[in-house]
Amino acid sequence: MKKTILIGVSGGIACYKAIEVVNQLKKEGYNVEVIMTRAAQEFIAPLTFKTMSHNPVITDMFDPVREWDTKHIDLAKAADVFVIVPATANIIGKIANGIADDMLTTTVMAARSPVLIFPAMNTFMYENTILQENIEKLKKHGYHVYGTAKGELACGDIGTGKLLDWQEIVKEIKTFL
Ligand SMILES: Cc1cc2nc3c(=O)[nH]c(=O)nc-3n(C[C@H](O)[C@H](O)[C@H](O)COP(=O)(O)O)c2cc1C
Repeated sequence: MKKTILIGVSGGIACYKAIEVVNQLKKEGYNVEVIMTRAAQEFIAPLTFKTMSHNPVITDMFDPVREWDTKHIDLAKAADVFVIVPATANIIGKIANGIADDMLTTTVMAARSPVLIFPAMNTFMYENTILQENIEKLKKHGYHVYGTAKGELACGDIGTGKLLDWQEIVKEIKTFL
């Protein structure tokens, strides 16, 4: 049976790299489901992920079409691996503190599969001690939080916080399948 990879996309400029991740995993024959935060939809239209994954994209906790079901639980159960890419400082902070106020964070809360988190943000945000404490807390609770690359960021700064290359992300995901 096809393995299911659940991809959570949060609202960072590196969202576009998640498109390649989804594209590659779909090409390799996996079932790929995508959840986008509201902020992520400011960067990329859900239609792009829908077209790449061949699945509807989940964008809203209270979608009237699905009001009657508990999609977050179904997705959490279906996932063989759950990947958050890119992971914003905000989403990391919310997960680390048990906040479940949207579809992505609520589904993470219900997850039983390995959860892989790929942070991406400005260097100053990444080096913020609260963010680093949140990452340590997530690791302590069994989440797989990856490092970042060093290089030129979208804001023009040079430093850490850059999302890993999509090829590396795909390789890491496949080690869990
Ligand atoms: C142009 C732009 C780029 C951004 N890039 C990032 C980013 O790379 N990483 C990050 O943590 N936040 C970034 N943000 C801020 C997030 O969008 C903001 O914190 C948002 O609340 C995140 O929501 P979410 O975590 O629910 O997706 C950016 C904001 C803007 C306007």
